[in-house]
Amino acid sequence: MASNNSTHTAKINQLNGPKADFFARRQKIEQHRKALPIAAVQKRLLEEVSNNDILIIVGETGSGKTTQLPQYLFNGGFCRNGGIIGITQPRRVAAVTVAKRVSEECGVTLGQKVGYAIRFEDVTSSSTRIKYMTDGLLLREALLDPCLSKYSVIIVDEAHERTVQTDVLLGLLKTVQKTRSSGASDMVHSDHAKADNGLLLEKEEDVQCTSTLKHSRGKKLSPLKLIIMSASLDAQIFSEFFGGAKAVHVQGRQYPVDILYTHQPETDYLDAALITIFQIHLEEGPGDILVFLTGQEEIESIERLVQERLPKLPESKRKLSIIPIFASLPSEKQMKVFMPPPVGFRKVILATNIAETSVTIPGIKYVIDPGMVKVRTYDPSTGIEPLIIVKTSKAQALQRSGRAGREGPGKCYRLYPENEFYKLKDSTTPEIKRCNLSNVILQLKALGIDDIVGFDFIEEPDSFDLKSATDRSAHSISMVKDDKFLCYMKLMMAIIKSMELLFLLGALTDASKLSDPVGRQMAKLPLDPIYSKALIVADQFNCLEEMLIVVAMLSVESIFYAPVKSWKRYYCSLLFYIFMCSLSRTALRSFSSSEGDHLTLLNTYRASDEFLEKSKLVSSQEKAEKNLRKWCKENFINSRSLKHARDIHSQIRKNVEQMGLRVTSCGDDMLPLRRCLAASFFLNAALKQPDGTYRALSSGLTVQIHPSSVLFRTKPECIIFDELVRTNQNYVRNVSRIDYLWLTELAPQCYALQE
Ligand code: CDP
Ligand code: MG
Repeated sequence: MASNNSTHTAKINQLNGPKADFFARRQKIEQHRKALPIAAVQKRLLEEVSNNDILIIVGETGSGKTTQLPQYLFNGGFCRNGGIIGITQPRRVAAVTVAKRVSEECGVTLGQKVGYAIRFEDVTSSSTRIKYMTDGLLLREALLDPCLSKYSVIIVDEAHERTVQTDVLLGLLKTVQKTRSSGASDMVHSDHAKADNGLLLEKEEDVQCTSTLKHSRGKKLSPLKLIIMSASLDAQIFSEFFGGAKAVHVQGRQYPVDILYTHQPETDYLDAALITIFQIHLEEGPGDILVFLTGQEEIESIERLVQERLPKLPESKRKLSIIPIFASLPSEKQMKVFMPPPVGFRKVILATNIAETSVTIPGIKYVIDPGMVKVRTYDPSTGIEPLIIVKTSKAQALQRSGRAGREGPGKCYRLYPENEFYKLKDSTTPEIKRCNLSNVILQLKALGIDDIVGFDFIEEPDSFDLKSATDRSAHSISMVKDDKFLCYMKLMMAIIKSMELLFLLGALTDASKLSDPVGRQMAKLPLDPIYSKALIVADQFNCLEEMLIVVAMLSVESIFYAPVKSWKRYYCSLLFYIFMCSLSRTALRSFSSSEGDHLTLLNTYRASDEFLEKSKLVSSQEKAEKNLRKWCKENFINSRSLKHARDIHSQIRKNVEQMGLRVTSCGDDMLPLRRCLAASFFLNAALKQPDGTYRALSSGLTVQIHPSSVLFRTKPECIIFDELVRTNQNYVRNVSRIDYLWLTELAPQCYALQE
């Protein structure tokens, strides 16, 4: 009896330990899963997927589509023959965070049954059956495996976002599905066979997959199930594109949300957001706050300002936990948005528009919506692609306010007057109509799809008779008003302009085919065509080692940060602000190069590398990284961005090595690197005008050097730049001095000396 009792006690003790925590957590997860709206229709969804090869699933954010459906399908036997369920996301953040969540829900280690793959990071293995990935990554996988033969189901999630990659993927998947249904697995284009040694073959299992495809030639592949998921309630466009595919609606949970507007338009929406955060915190009941901002810079500046103001509040009111979330945040930091705050604390989540639908954050009761979003635009007539901050659409505003009412009644503070809401555009313009398509065209060409104009793009060419429209337009002026026609022509212009860009970069031949080796190499690199070109050319200029660093540093947002622009936001003295500015300038000066920002970025990276290496000699890896973060702070360097650049650097270095490029250094002589920049960025060249402004040579636009550039004051005669930012002026950022004669020498296809 006594021994029985002691066994019993031991069991209880055990259950009070980590095991008990584990079981409690699992139980909580199970309860949460069962309570999700999608759980009520699990059986029906499985039946619909079984009965329909293409299914459209529409459901409000938070209903459980992204996390649950793949698990239902897995348990429902859709991976039976070793097939993988692939789920695409437009955003890396969503792919990573959701995969982590689902692996936890399944009780497995991430990278085993559940994994993810995004550009520069692959956390999957041969046992992965539920694979989250970005839409762009699946497009790249199609280069190696055109039938996407390892997938039994592909779920295109967040299709309402209409990113250019999603749009292209939908067209491609339509063909893949037809091919697989017809049993013809031999659709391998000659181009694909050549992709066998491509860059995606980093893991053993990928090699196996490609060889499986080769062996499976002539063998019948199983049909592919295709599921399109969207948070927008209008499924018609997807249904029409897939020939009247069935759409199922998952009822969401939505509690009432009070919408509050400002009386007057706000001159500074960041100040308004900051004030509203504190107003809610001090005056409203419990519940977390979600603030929509446009990018990393805004998020970090609000984060700093809230932290600075907190100590001024009474001690009992200081319990605010500030959590940023944006695309380039390291993934372990991204997960913090899903964790409960310390007891008694209120979470304030500062997010970009990824929190509209891509990432479902629990606990939100208050939403602050300044009504702005950063988008990339493209003007085919000038070929420039600036990032601009624009007003959201009505659909986005509604999605944002909806986030406040998922778990109970909430409040949404729109930081603009009510009448402004009615003036907003109904929905966001699909990205394909407003972005540079050169990257996608390069990939389609590499896939063997040469007729880009005839490609099955969702919405336009399919439902649009070009010939009759052109005939009509010739006869009728009113045709010009036809929106569909204009949209179509805009898309065609964007395609033509992007092909011209690829041709000038040497990626396409006169016959519009992918050139060999340049075009083929460019298609293999997971970078913008100009960056890929820079790496390929650097091989010839013997400066690939340096160019890898420059490209990695250009690929991340804001390496340097300046003290917040408006000193008023410091709520402290002007003198202190001036002191901070001078400190940051001194810090930048120690890395700055008189040749421009590219070399400055190189110096900065190298200095950080040197610091880290020295630090590692005397302390552990962990301590050294901590020291590096401190060093970054002292030098006004964004340590998150630097870390991201370091990761990108090691990835692209692996990529170019696999491609057989020689990673050599130009040593202390920076001339080859500068010439190499001219030989690759020549489409972004500008000449100084007598009034001190610049004329961008390919677009004819008047531009100015951005104040953040080290060349802002020097103003050299001829420059190349990385990007054009349009605020009230056209600014060019990341600028380097070049000799204008290099343009005629290195890019004769674009520039000639006037006689
Ligand atoms: O895709 P959909 O918006 O329909 O919902 P979901 O992303 O599947 O999210 C379902 C639930 O999972 C929500 O209640 C989220 O709060 C939760 N979730 C989470 O706790 N952690 C994540 N990383 C992702 C989702
Ligand atoms: Mg989702």
